[in-house]
Amino acid sequence: MRMASIAALGLAIATQAQEIYLTTTGYTTRPQCTKSTASPSYHFQPFSYSLKETVRYATSIPSPTTTKTYAPVYEDAAKHLRTTVSTSSWGNWLPGQTVISATDSSNPYGQAAWSSMWLNAGLQNYTTTGIFSTTVSPTPVPTSELVLPPRDYFGPTDCYNFPDDFIFGVAGSAAQIEGAVALEGRSPSLLEKFASASCPKDYVTDENYFYYKQDIERLAAMGVEYYSFSIPWTRILPFVLPGTPVNKQAIDHYNDLIDTVLDAGMQPVVTMLHFDSPLVFVASDNIDRVPIWVTFNEPLLYAFNFQGVDNVIHAHAQVYRFYHEELKATGKMSLKLNDNFGVPKNPKNNSDIDAANRFNEMQLAFFADPIFLGKQYPDSILHTLPGARQLNKTELKFIGQTADFFAIDPYTATVVSPADEGITACAANKSSSNSLFPYCVNQETKNVYGWNIGYRSESYVYITPTYFREYLSYLWNTFRHPILVSEFGFPLWKESEKELSDQRYDSTRSTYYLSYMSEILRAIHEDGVHVMGALAWSFIDNWEFGQPSQFGIQGVDPKSQERFYKKSFFDLVDFVKARQR
Ligand SMILES: *[C@@H]1O[C@H](CO)[C@@H](O)[C@H](O)[C@H]1NC(C)=O
Ligand SMILES: *[C@@H]1O[C@H](CO)[C@@H](O)[C@H](O)[C@H]1NC(C)=O
Ligand SMILES: *[C@@H]1O[C@H](CO)[C@@H](O)[C@H](O)[C@H]1NC(C)=O
Ligand SMILES: *[C@@H]1O[C@H](CO)[C@@H](O)[C@H](O)[C@H]1NC(C)=O
Repeated sequence: MRMASIAALGLAIATQAQEIYLTTTGYTTRPQCTKSTASPSYHFQPFSYSLKETVRYATSIPSPTTTKTYAPVYEDAAKHLRTTVSTSSWGNWLPGQTVISATDSSNPYGQAAWSSMWLNAGLQNYTTTGIFSTTVSPTPVPTSELVLPPRDYFGPTDCYNFPDDFIFGVAGSAAQIEGAVALEGRSPSLLEKFASASCPKDYVTDENYFYYKQDIERLAAMGVEYYSFSIPWTRILPFVLPGTPVNKQAIDHYNDLIDTVLDAGMQPVVTMLHFDSPLVFVASDNIDRVPIWVTFNEPLLYAFNFQGVDNVIHAHAQVYRFYHEELKATGKMSLKLNDNFGVPKNPKNNSDIDAANRFNEMQLAFFADPIFLGKQYPDSILHTLPGARQLNKTELKFIGQTADFFAIDPYTATVVSPADEGITACAANKSSSNSLFPYCVNQETKNVYGWNIGYRSESYVYITPTYFREYLSYLWNTFRHPILVSEFGFPLWKESEKELSDQRYDSTRSTYYLSYMSEILRAIHEDGVHVMGALAWSFIDNWEFGQPSQFGIQGVDPKSQERFYKKSFFDLVDFVKARQR
């Protein structure tokens, strides 16, 4: 998930949606209904109570019989690095610890050096490590937890199926679920400093670092097929730079996590950088059994200046080429981009269309023109961002065609029109007081008639399924690669303040998921758009960078770490299973 402060950037619309559903006189037409002229016939009959719901249970996925591999095993992969790999272990930096007891201070990568990173991290109130200190053994999910909730009265009416190779799964990220920040050799990341002092930090969150086996068991029990997670750099390489020792405990941990996912019959999707570590890369461990890799998550949110994005693009291309050309690995690799789809305030007004194109181009084509199409940076970037320079021919050749699919986090949409002073004048005004720079567009959450573009969540997300479908079409036809919806989700208004039973009955989140999934099917079957999969964010309520909003399709009791499934999880799985051939 993105950080809410930056995410406040964007929101969404519905003029076209209205055109679909309204006649010119304004009321909904029902072309599928032949008009009934029959009059009612009132009558008596014996009355009896009935249970309206048939009891149905979620079905676990079958255990696998074989494991497919996509790359050489770790030991062989490590030989391709232009650096020697040594391993070590550092253990824990515990709450309240204020002195370094290790005496190996002459070793730049020793225990004392590792401890000093934590001593110097300036943690405020690092007082708790949660309730677990070792991996929790999983227990089977009782059948009583797997009874499907009542169906909502309204729901999708499509008649389409998902293609056989459609990827359906759920997502989370290490910093947001793991906790155990200073345990088992992890070094500090930016995030321990990120949230403001008054906000809760990531020290404990869902304790997934120790609870992952149970979390995976719970996903498998529901019938989830793909699990998307991230591997933090600060766990694998506490000293960050190439040539520094690899943390043995982290290698063992993520190896076991991947094996646990596979043993449960699911497939892993791995992100290498999800807001939580420095921009350093060497080949990853655990490379052999993972079919889908993501190098960077939403880089726009931490690298939006020319040099930052330029670095990300070069780094991505280098990792991609290492993976396919040196390791000869056969999995798929991409990076995850984000943009609240900019839709023109009035789709018949050329100024608004230009503004929307500029908004989307600056956030997406900036990365995707070079990476997916081998094209120069867009003019909007070159003419606006300070320090922007063209990629030369050698660079374009190196960067071009270095992604196997287009990963997008399309949570919602935003209504766009040009800055009041005009785009050109705004783009020329690089003063820091120019709040619309660099996009130079107005963003709103209301359509041209003044209605909200959709139902509002606790944060920037509005339920905008018809714009979502339009977005898929935009991406496919512009960047011409299969699309993975790598995150999408909805935080209900003040959900965490509700009673548990009300948190579980999250019908609005179901509406979000089922309407978006139904639009994916329409995009595939009616628009010819290749959508290769969708991963729901998030598989559990988690640490949202100190913000209260919760995106989980499971909830968690922070005192016991017990999880509970929400209705939307059942509804989403049920929607997919009903549409698999
Ligand atoms: C530390 O915790 C105390 C007690 O919960 C709180 O009053 C204080 O503001 C916190 N300080 C910081 C810097 O977070
Ligand atoms: C189109 O939009 C621009 C900017 O929002 C506005 O100034 C202009 O009047 C609009 N043109 C028409 C024909 O509505
Ligand atoms: C292209 O740009 C790269 C990076 O700035 C530079 O190292 C290289 O020499 C340039 N190549 C040409 C042919 O200009
Ligand atoms: C730049 O934008 C700021 C903030 O909108 C405004 O106060 C200032 O006058 C603008 N400068 C120019 C040269 O237009």
